[in-house]
Order: sequence, then C-alpha cells, then structure tokens
Amino acid sequence: MINQHTVQQIIERAQIEEVVEEFVGLKRRGANMLGLCPFHNEKTPSFTVSPAKNIYKCFGCGKGGNTVQFVMEHESLTFPEALRYLAKKYNIEIEETETSDEYKEERKLVDALFLVNQFASKYYQEQLFNTDEGRSIGLGYFKERGFIESTIKKFDLGYASASYDDFTKKAIDQQYNIEHLRTLRLTTEKDLDFFRSRVMFAIHNLSGKVIGFGGRILSENKKSPKYLNSAESEIYNKRKVLYGLYQAKTAIRKLKNCFIVEGYTDVLSLHQNGVENVVASSGTALTESQIRLIKRYTENITLLYDGDAAGIKAASKGLDLVLEQEMNVNIVLLPDNHDPDSFIKLKGSTGFLEFIEENKKDFILFKTSLISKEAEKDPIQKASLLRDIIQSIARIPDTIKRSLYIKQCSSLLDIKEDILVSETNKAINGLIKQKRLEQDREAYRNQRIQQNQAQTDDTGFPIESPKKIDHHQKRVDFYNDEFQERDIARIIVSAGDKWYDEKENIKVFEFLYQNIEDVIDSLENPLYLKLINIAKVEFEKNNAIPESYFISHSDEEISQLAIDLVSSPYTYAKWEERKVSLQTSLPPEENQRKDTMRSLLRFLLKKLNQKIKHQEDLIKSMDSQLNGEEYILELKVLNKLQQHRNELAKDFGTTVLKM
Ligand code: CTP
Ligand code: MN
Repeated sequence: MINQHTVQQIIERAQIEEVVEEFVGLKRRGANMLGLCPFHNEKTPSFTVSPAKNIYKCFGCGKGGNTVQFVMEHESLTFPEALRYLAKKYNIEIEETETSDEYKEERKLVDALFLVNQFASKYYQEQLFNTDEGRSIGLGYFKERGFIESTIKKFDLGYASASYDDFTKKAIDQQYNIEHLRTLRLTTEKDLDFFRSRVMFAIHNLSGKVIGFGGRILSENKKSPKYLNSAESEIYNKRKVLYGLYQAKTAIRKLKNCFIVEGYTDVLSLHQNGVENVVASSGTALTESQIRLIKRYTENITLLYDGDAAGIKAASKGLDLVLEQEMNVNIVLLPDNHDPDSFIKLKGSTGFLEFIEENKKDFILFKTSLISKEAEKDPIQKASLLRDIIQSIARIPDTIKRSLYIKQCSSLLDIKEDILVSETNKAINGLIKQKRLEQDREAYRNQRIQQNQAQTDDTGFPIESPKKIDHHQKRVDFYNDEFQERDIARIIVSAGDKWYDEKENIKVFEFLYQNIEDVIDSLENPLYLKLINIAKVEFEKNNAIPESYFISHSDEEISQLAIDLVSSPYTYAKWEERKVSLQTSLPPEENQRKDTMRSLLRFLLKKLNQKIKHQEDLIKSMDSQLNGEEYILELKVLNKLQQHRNELAKDFGTTVLKM
C-alpha cells in the first residue's frame, strides 16, 4: 500500500501540462493550454489544460480531472497504477506502509480463491479435450451445436465428468484447500464434485480471471436444473457480472453498442458469427451494477429477447434503471420460437444485423406500443401499463428527451399531453422523495460505519461509501433547471474560502451557509447537498476550504463536480469579467461579495418562487366554498410569500444594477 505522504507528494509534484503533453499536443491560449481531446474524436480543439489549477477539462465530451485521473483514464490504469506511473516520471520514491493483518488476510483469501478457480478451469478444459469421456460427450455436444474449437477455447469452455469426486481428489492432491473448494461450491459439503456430467462455462471478471462457472446439463433429465452455478463468494457476485464482457469489451467500445442476450450459448453463437459486442444477463433482470459496467464502454444498449410473453417481461424488467443512467435503450423481439443463437444460425450475421436494424424499437416507444395493443382488450391493463410508462419517463434525467417522449406517447395513445405532463411530474416528485429517503438512510449507515472504523483502500484513501449515487456529471442537470443551485455550489468551491468580510472575519462560505440553511432541505440535486455538507464539516474543522480541497477530494463525485464547476465556460467568462473590473474599479473582495450576493439572491428567489407555485397549486386544488377558513389561511400564506419575494426581487435588482 502506497503511503499517504507519497500520494500527497505525487499529487503535488505532477504537473498536468507535463503529463498531458506526453500524449496530446498542446498550445498556449492565455492562461490555459489547448489541444485535441484524446477521449473523443474532434477536429477543432476543445481539450483545455489549466496549469494553474492543475486540471484538464474537455468542453467537447465533458471529461475532466486532475493529473492522476488523466493517467488513469488515458492509460486505463487503476489508481495505484497511475500513482506508480507518475512516481516514476517524477523520480519520487514510493514509500509503502504496512497493510493491516486483516487486509492481508482478505487479500490472501481472494488470491487463493482465484487460484482454485484457475485450477478448476484448466481441469475442466483438460477433461474436455484430453479424456475419452470429455471428447465424446462434452466436445461432441459443443460440436453438435455448431461451436468450433476457437470459440470453445476463447471462452474457456470445459467438461465435468460423471465421476463423483475425481476433481476434488485431484485438487486436494495438488494442495488446494478443501475449505476454498467448498466456498466456491466446486466441492459439496460431503467432499464430492458439485459439477458432474455437465459442459462448463467459465465466467470471467474484467481482467479475465475466472470467478465462477455455469454448468449445463446434457441429459434430458428434468429432475436436475438445466444450469448449475458457482456459489457467490468474495470473488463472485452475480449481480455485478455480465457473462462475456471480458471477451466483448473492445468490440463494444469500437461499435458503440452492446447487445444484451439471455443465455451463455447466445453469446458464444453471436461471437462465432462475428458479432462480438454481446453479453448475457444470464437469465436475470439487469442490475444497476451491470449497467454501470456497460456504461464504461458505451451508452447504447440493444436488448435481444424472445418474442414471447416471458421474453417481453424479462426485457422490461430492470430497464428503468438503464434510463436513469442516461443510456439509450433499444429493444428487438426476435421472431417466435427463436433465441439469438438459433436466429443468427438461420440468418447469418448480415441477415441477423439487418433484422435488428429494421426491427429495433426505442424502449419507451416499445412500451407504448404494448399499451395500444392491450388497450382495445382491457382498460384496466391499459391503466397499469400507462402508469408503468410514466414511471419510466420520469426516470429520464434529460428534460428535452423527456418532453419528446411525452409528446410521442400522447399522440400514440391519444391521451392529452398536459395530463401526461402532470402525471410525470408527480412521478418525478415521488422519485425525488424516494431518493432522498434512500440517501438519508445511506448517510446514516455511512456515519455509523465511519464511527466504527475508518477504512482505507490500498492507496490509503478512505474507502468510498458502499453505494454511491451516480456521479456522472450529466446527472447534474437532473429534473429541473437548477442553474441556481449549481451556482451556489460554484461559489462554495471557487470562493468559499475567500473573505466575505475580512473585518468581521466572515468567509464567503459562512455567509452563504447562514443564508441558505433554512432552505437546504429543498435542494433538488442531492449532489450539491452533499457538497455543502462536506464543506460545512471541513470548514468547522479547519476554518478553511480551499478550491484544491474539493478538486482532490477522495469522493470522486465531489472532485468531478468541483472540476466541472471551476472549469465551466461560465466561470471562465466570469474570471475575465473580474479581471477587467479589477483593473478599472473594484477591489477583488468587493467583486467576490457581489458575485456571492447575486448567486445567493438568485437561489433564494428561485426557492421562493417554487414555494409560491406550490402554494398556488394548493389553493387551486381547494374549493373556496367548502374549506372557507382554511382557504383564507392558505391565501394569507401565499400573500406573505409573495411579499417576501418582492422584497428579495428588489434587493436583487439593486445588486445587479450596482454590478
Ligand atoms: N439459467 C440458469 N439456471 C437455469 C436456467 C437458466 O442460470 N436453471 C441462466 C443461464 O445463464 C442461461 C440463461 O439463464 O444461459 C438463459 O437460459 P436458457 O435460454 O434456458 O439457456 P441457454 O443458455 O440459451 O442454453 P441453451 O441454448 O442450451 O438452451
Ligand atoms: Mn438458448
């Protein structure tokens, strides 16, 4: 484990422009440097490097980060690997600290389990190719299904013989630990082989290590399940794995699309026919972790499912998650009685891909078309499907996309657009509440974890909270025009540490915090709330929150946000403005104050306007005859809010004018 001191030293010494220039040609442009972005294709440079802030940011694709993150991203390295790379470049000697015994034990166990699986995989392959039983039964089966040797080898397929304990005995002979064999469920509690008379599919992690197996039955014996799978263990969590991703990842990135099928054999068959950007969900609904895995390589998913009812159901499950991750989802239903395996065999790869192009449907529109079919038959079913669609649309973070879908659904289903809009808004509010609740629980849990033990990973950084809220920066625009909230975050990061009033000893952050404390709960973006809370804790501890504190924060969500905020074109423009006024009139502190005041007022105004809108809706929904007194009370509240707003607006006007 690289010790904290070394990590700090590397981060301080490594100069962003020196590191980037090894890979990207840069030209000076004012205080910054500009080049062609290495992370996306572009003809005019929008990749910006700021030596002063020691960060990079591409205004084309949005990627940004510090020196270590650049190396990680560009060279596909892990955090410790990137540190080692930089240490070498800058001749910094790496000091390693002793790792805790507990950590060492865990590492040892994980390594041992990998070794056991590696042994097992070799054993099953050996059985398949080099034993009579394996060749005639196992290899015979694969050949009959049309799989050629290169496919079989590429996927580490194997065979488990009919013997009761041949595998277990051999493993023990070779000094593998019986407990490990049991943990992985390669061996039963009675010390017999778990997989017997099955063809074996090795499941790999992203670096190609075998983490588990699926074993397919060969006989028609209906008593035993068609597939047996490895136990979940320290190295295998089926919710976080996609079968075939290791073999598919390069093709997925290149073709900018990932096909998702259900079965192991579908993956093999597509690969063999030259369609390599394919993974299997292994018969279960997609999970958030699996979607994140795909998102590393592409934002486009195409689901290939059987055209029957079960296929459709499987396809819709888990998909709302995909929408929430801002991925584009298409769905293709194959003709009746076909799965991807049988269909590509029938059509060949060209016919197969043509069929997909012609028949792929956008996921939401696919759902919509289901409704219009159902509607004629069953109005109750129609209502429930409609609710389902509204839930899906509500999860789409992009406002424009959302309203497009609403328009399309409205015309397809012949339902008034404003009804769909208001139903979607209700659903969004429901989701926000739900998310807040989850977040609170999460925060509470983390707090308790932190109290119990301050855990660090193998670089000495604190381990992040187990489940993170999505940190992809586009998420920043979730749900609403939240410019005002974002601007508050910008001020905190870029100016929180500066004086608001030096004589009174008040820093910008304190001033801001006092003024927004009451409405903090109504922040719509949980990320900003997190930032404010982090800033508060740090400020109380050290009475200082420099910009660099956020930029190199160990929580990636926070550091990404900080980088985005300090490098947004908007902020650059502001800097320029400030430089000009600096020379002409106002001293920097005063500008600082104006900027802060302006953001603050804008933010408070926005919040007040929201409250007023809410109050107006409430009053509209009331019947003035029926709820006489209550009605008048609510009117009074509205009046107060409006007054308050008008006062603020006046302040706002004067501040803006004075600028
Ligand atoms: N599956 C499982 N356990 C079962 C049945 C299925 O884990 N008892 C998973 C497997 O990952 C399988 C997937 O669900 O690959 C899809 O099931 P199915 O279509 O029945 O299997 P295929 O892989 O398509 O196998 P085959 O083509 O041989 O029918
Ligand atoms: Mn199948």
